[in-house]
Parts: sequence; C-alpha cells; structure tokens
Amino acid sequence: MNITGDIKYVGVNDHEIDLFEGQYTVPNGMAYNSYVILDDKIAVLDSVDARFGDEWLGHIRGAIGKKLPDYLIVQHMEPDHSANILSFMTTYPKAVIVSSKHAFVMMSQYFGTDFPERRIIVKEGDTLSLGKHVLSFIAAPLVHWPEVMVTYDATDKVLFSADAFGKFGALDIDEDWACEARRYYFGIVGKFGVQVQNLLKKAAALDIKTICPLHGPVLTKNLEYHLNLYNTWSSYGVESEGVAIAYTSIYGHTKKAVELLAEKLKENGCPKVAVTDLARDDMAEAVEDAFRYGKLVLATTTYNGDIFPFMRTFIEHLVEHNYKNRTVAFIENGSWAPWATKVMKGMLEGCKNLAFAENTVRILSALNGESTAQVENLAKELCQN
Ligand code: FEO
Repeated sequence: MNITGDIKYVGVNDHEIDLFEGQYTVPNGMAYNSYVILDDKIAVLDSVDARFGDEWLGHIRGAIGKKLPDYLIVQHMEPDHSANILSFMTTYPKAVIVSSKHAFVMMSQYFGTDFPERRIIVKEGDTLSLGKHVLSFIAAPLVHWPEVMVTYDATDKVLFSADAFGKFGALDIDEDWACEARRYYFGIVGKFGVQVQNLLKKAAALDIKTICPLHGPVLTKNLEYHLNLYNTWSSYGVESEGVAIAYTSIYGHTKKAVELLAEKLKENGCPKVAVTDLARDDMAEAVEDAFRYGKLVLATTTYNGDIFPFMRTFIEHLVEHNYKNRTVAFIENGSWAPWATKVMKGMLEGCKNLAFAENTVRILSALNGESTAQVENLAKELCQN
C-alpha cells in the first residue's frame, strides 16, 4: 500500500490476538503499523508484534526490492512495535537504529544490547536527511511511554504519530474510527492527557496532510475532526451530551432501578443514555463512556462491608485515568446496612472538579415508593442542565 509516492505501508493485521496489551478485547483484531520511506537512503519506521516478524520482513522486502534499508527509526519501545528490532538488525547488518536515548536503554533491557556500534541517538528538534525527505523528531514523552518520539516528514507533510491517533481493529475490517479510537485512547493513553496536549501543541505548528499512527488507519481526510476529538479527550472535556450509567446487580433489583432511571432520563429529554452492566459488558467500553459523557451514575450494592467488586474495579480505572470535570450521581442498594454511596464517594475523593448530584437513591433490597421517587428526582436533576 502506498501512502505517498515514497512512503509505503509495511505493517500487519492480527486476527489471532485474544487480549491486546493483556486486557483489551479486540473483536476486530489489531493492526501493528510500520512504514518505509524510499529515498536516497531508506528508512523503516517501527517494527511489529513478535508473532509477525517474518510477515513484516517480507513486506519490507516487497517494498524495497533488492535495496537495503539504511535506518530503522524506533519511535516507541512497547513490544507491539519493538519486538522484531533484533531480527531486523540481524537481517540487515548494515542498518542503523535511530531512536531516543531512553529507547536505547529499553533495547538493552529487552534484547541485552543497545546496539552501541549501530545507533544514532536523536532528541527533540534533531533531523535526519534521507535525500529529498528530511525527518524531524519530536519528543512525545508518555504518549504513552517515556521514550516515545514522533517523526515529521516535511517533504510529504506526514506526521508519524506513534500510538497517538491509533485505534483497536485490524485494517482489513471497515469500521467507524471514533468508536474504537476512543476506547483505545481512554484505556491506553487516557491517563496522560497533559502529555497529549503538549504533543498537540507541537503538532499545531506543523503543516500536516497525513497522519500515520502505529495502530489503525492512516488518516488523510478530515484531520481537523481527528485533531479536535484528541483535543477534547486529552483535555478531559465532554464529547457528547448524555448520561452514562454503570451498574452491578446481584439479583436484579439494582438493575431495575437503573432501567427505571434510564427510562425517566429519556422521558426528561436526555439525548443519550449509555448503560453498562459492569459484570457482563466490556469494562473498557464503560470507561470510554464515563469520559465521553458529562454525567455518570454509579449504581451498586453494599457487599462484604464494601461495594460489589466490579464497581470497585471500575472506579479504580476511572481514578487511575485521571477522571475529572464531570457530574457523578449514586444509587446504592443494601438489605441491612447500605453504605455503597459513602464508599464510592470516598474512592473518587482525589478526582479534580467532580460535582456530586444532590439527589441520591437508596434502595433497601428492592425498589419501593420512596426509592422510586428518588430515582425520578435524580432523573430530573440530571436533565436540568
Ligand atoms: Fe501500541 Fe504503546 O504501544
């Protein structure tokens, strides 16, 4: 696949993977992207997951024919992109690695060598001339590892963006970008909003026509749409009006309250209600929804003197990902000493700029007249502004 006249795609699709990064379900697989720039000198950008080394090297051979690559540019050392560095360097004994100082430290950790005779260490602002193409390197620490750099080719106006602008899903599946890019962003990069903002500021100074990420499709159209979404996500802004409801339910009584709330929210004009059963649905989808919408309802039972485990895990995900700037409401259930709301509020204590809804719902085993009225009042409050 040609990206431009000189830039070719040499990545791979993975439909064998069960869990990406050991935790994310990827029903449509995963792409590990890699690119070749053909010029007086030939550069390969990044490697692919360990299981696809031979296929990747075959794609490189297909792209460069009998020529030999001069450089392997390593933007990110996470193994989904770095696993085949050693086999590349063995296959092409004259090639040189171009990467950040920190990345070479990681290479010695992964491979037992930092290629002392075959490396060029680059930092922010350094350039590498391939002939017609002059690449400049931009530090992107914590997007999403500390060694990360991205690469700008001023000749073809291409930004090689490492994990930024990536998504779940292989490239031979046609699907909406935002849905799986959002789930990927909040799961994997979401904690590092400040660092993504820093990268976006640097990117704003560049004339970009194409974004080549390490996962997901090459972006050539509507770049403003993608950049705007990344700006909203990384600034923890509200993307869509609506209410996310995350719940656990043991015997169905808490679920009934959630269903009633969803119905009442819709009756009160709420544009979107996204409901997740934390025990059965995808946790990463629930995290994504919590960040997508401006309001979140947490509904769970008191359990073993605490809250139901799936809800504890969910709130831990939110806190870990710097959850902020939202309104949160609570529904608790308990048959003798309900105190789930107290526990959930306590867990969110360190989060910045959270407003807690005035109305809370307390269910004593099953909905009754009083708790039903509380649900109705909560729905009204959440739809007021
Ligand atoms: Fe796709 Fe952070 O690795």
